Amino acid sequence: CGIVGYVGPQPALEVVVDGLKRLEYRGYDSAGVAVVADGRIETEKRAGKLANLKAALEEHPRSADGIGIGHTRWATHGAPTDVNAHPHVDNDNRVAVIHNGIIENFASLRLELEERGCKFTSETDTEVAAHLLGEEVKAQNGDLPAAMRAVCRKLEGAFTLVAVHAGQPDLVVAARRNSPLVVGRGDGENFLASDVAAFIAHTRDAVELGQDQVVELRRDSVTVTDYDGNPAEVREYHVDWDASAAEKGGYDYFMLKEIVEQPQAVADTLLGRVGVDGTLTLDEMRLAPSELRDIQKIVIIACGTSYHAGLIAKYAIEHWCRIPCEVEVASEFRYRDPILDRQTLVIAISQSGESMDTLMAVRYAREQRARVLAICNVNGSTIPRESDGVLYTHAGPEVGVAATKTFLTQLVACYLVGLYLAQVRNLKYGDEINAVIEQLANMPQQVEKVLDTVGSVRDLARSLANAETVLFLGRHVGYPVALEGALKLKELAYMHAEAFAAGELKHGPIALIEDGLPVVVVVPSREGRGVLHDKIVSNIQEIRARGARTIVIAEEGDADVLPYADELIEIPAVPTLLQPIVATIPMQVFACELALAKGNDVDQPRNLAKSVTVE
Ligand code: G6P
Repeated sequence: CGIVGYVGPQPALEVVVDGLKRLEYRGYDSAGVAVVADGRIETEKRAGKLANLKAALEEHPRSADGIGIGHTRWATHGAPTDVNAHPHVDNDNRVAVIHNGIIENFASLRLELEERGCKFTSETDTEVAAHLLGEEVKAQNGDLPAAMRAVCRKLEGAFTLVAVHAGQPDLVVAARRNSPLVVGRGDGENFLASDVAAFIAHTRDAVELGQDQVVELRRDSVTVTDYDGNPAEVREYHVDWDASAAEKGGYDYFMLKEIVEQPQAVADTLLGRVGVDGTLTLDEMRLAPSELRDIQKIVIIACGTSYHAGLIAKYAIEHWCRIPCEVEVASEFRYRDPILDRQTLVIAISQSGESMDTLMAVRYAREQRARVLAICNVNGSTIPRESDGVLYTHAGPEVGVAATKTFLTQLVACYLVGLYLAQVRNLKYGDEINAVIEQLANMPQQVEKVLDTVGSVRDLARSLANAETVLFLGRHVGYPVALEGALKLKELAYMHAEAFAAGELKHGPIALIEDGLPVVVVVPSREGRGVLHDKIVSNIQEIRARGARTIVIAEEGDADVLPYADELIEIPAVPTLLQPIVATIPMQVFACELALAKGNDVDQPRNLAKSVTVE
């Protein structure tokens, strides 16, 4: 979500709406503003793009006293409607709150508030914060910063909260935990936002808030404390990007930014779902454990990159749950008269939730009485709306057409579904399941580690800008990773790229190998699947003997591949089934950099669209 706050002499509404415009890439399913005018809170909010809010504001013009807050939403709890749009207010309409993130303990807090007589109007987790803040402001005799600190101590999860109070027309208060928040310092005016893009037209002097800090913004002062009210340290810096680079966080392309956002995207997708004792909570799937125990067969349907996530899920689900699992491209699925019944769970994977091929397959599956679970990144989109249950990936908006962070989060969601199924079905692999859950929870750090070391991949990619063909090989889950690597190269660099199961090579494709042909090989982890590892080392030798230039992606310290790797890309050692999360990243960087070297627009590759709504 995008967040903006303003205190100063300029017309607050204009500053806030202009800031929202620059943050619209962060989410655009609804938007809203709140101002303090004549001692009252006034809000305006609308589902849909910012243009809808602007039209509403033109219809009901209002004069603000010089403070305002605004929000552009990427829905997590509750569909993108007028009512669920931010800001949210307390029952006395004395405080207004906007929020970015997820309040994990909102259900129990909501229950307590309702028991005390609070009336809720939306389905959001944010409204809980509004009511709590309303109560606290009264308890603290109108001290909004103290109330904010008290509320934050009660909240669990990730959030940026921004609030204004009807009785304080010169103060905006905000708090930060695990979600972004920066302050812009002006002359006699101050700003805050999810990122500097929102205020860069006014000031380039920024203050980055730390974890668990509360900021009080007045015309002439910016005061930062921790949640106990002690003065806190902040980092001040000068922004030297221009406005368009700022939207991309300083990167030239959204895709580059989205690649580096992957540790956060993976962490957000795990957030609130893995308990400290390893128990998984996926209530939002809306499929009861009894229904899940009933499942005899799983069919995964998806397109493009999402299909590759499905292929990887099959290996994990069959191994952990011992349920037969098929994967099929959505456009083929319903035309071949597939066998479905009430005991079939169909998992539809779609980042956009709008791909027509996948939607049609979902409708067909439901007509055949199968249960349908969607894995999707866009809250309230069509596929989750038409499915029986949904598990959202929390990657945030992805602007680059070629999927990156949504793919990694789809993998996380698929693993969560597999592990959860194993848990509710009480399978005998309890120890292995618990160990994998622990490793999965550790993935954000592993992803970070890969990103820290991909510099050499960029040099390698640039050196291959004139290659005509690149082949990709993998075994087991490394095979779909190879498919994804080849797809990325086709999409972005417009190059001929093909992927094969390494064992299948000798049955035909090996005839393609000639002197200097680049071949990328994904080597499985040594842990647990030694045979597989050794087999692929032999395959590398076979192609190298025929002249291939081998580009080997292997776990760190894998001495077996060293003699045969012309180029070695090391990734952290993780269990084989989870390896795609780390092994995909060098492929993304490789394709992106190669495409840039050819002068291509990686955000909007030719002929493609982010979501394809035709069959
Ligand atoms: C389009 C995009 C691909 C994407 C596919 C599936 O073809 O160009 O990058 O993987 O759609 O999209 P979905 O939103 O259903 O995951």
